[in-house]
Amino acid sequence: MRESLEEIAKEINACTKCELGWSRNHAVPGEGSANAKLMLIGEAPGREEDEKGKPFIGRAGRLLTQVLSDAGLTREEVFITSVIKCRPPNNRRPKKKEIRACLPYLRRQIMAINPRVILLLGGVAAESLLGIKRVGEARGKPFKRDRVYIVTYHPAAVLRNINLLPYLSEDIRLGKTLAYSET
Ligand code: URA
Repeated sequence: MRESLEEIAKEINACTKCELGWSRNHAVPGEGSANAKLMLIGEAPGREEDEKGKPFIGRAGRLLTQVLSDAGLTREEVFITSVIKCRPPNNRRPKKKEIRACLPYLRRQIMAINPRVILLLGGVAAESLLGIKRVGEARGKPFKRDRVYIVTYHPAAVLRNINLLPYLSEDIRLGKTLAYSET
């Protein structure tokens, strides 16, 4: 029996394994299909996500939703989450010990969903799951591990440099192709 996403979310919502558990308004476990073929993993919730408990609903999230839609994907059919589930104060980069405390939840979510392809959005996700530091060098190609991983730019980085948009778009399309291919 696969563990249910609801059970994992319940634990995340009650979690105090690191100090972010005390400063958050809402934890953000993630949302989407429990049977998603494609999973997207960002860095950490921002202000709007912390207010609502939903992933990627701020400016970066609206861009991500649009790029998914342009690729013919809905938010409902994929699963969207982040490496850490609580907002760091002032959106600072998550600390190593916060990532260490939170990663077991993400690993359990991956096991529960068992997606064919995982898109890693930005350096924190790429480093946490693949040990890859340079997104620009790693993006655009599949990494075959226990499943297929694709590294790409975080939508917030694309908002800061719109020239990166075609790469994000291309990488999401590659993820879709590999996730939905017959073989
Ligand atoms: N950025 C992330 O990495 N995750 C979110 O949920 C929102 C913004």
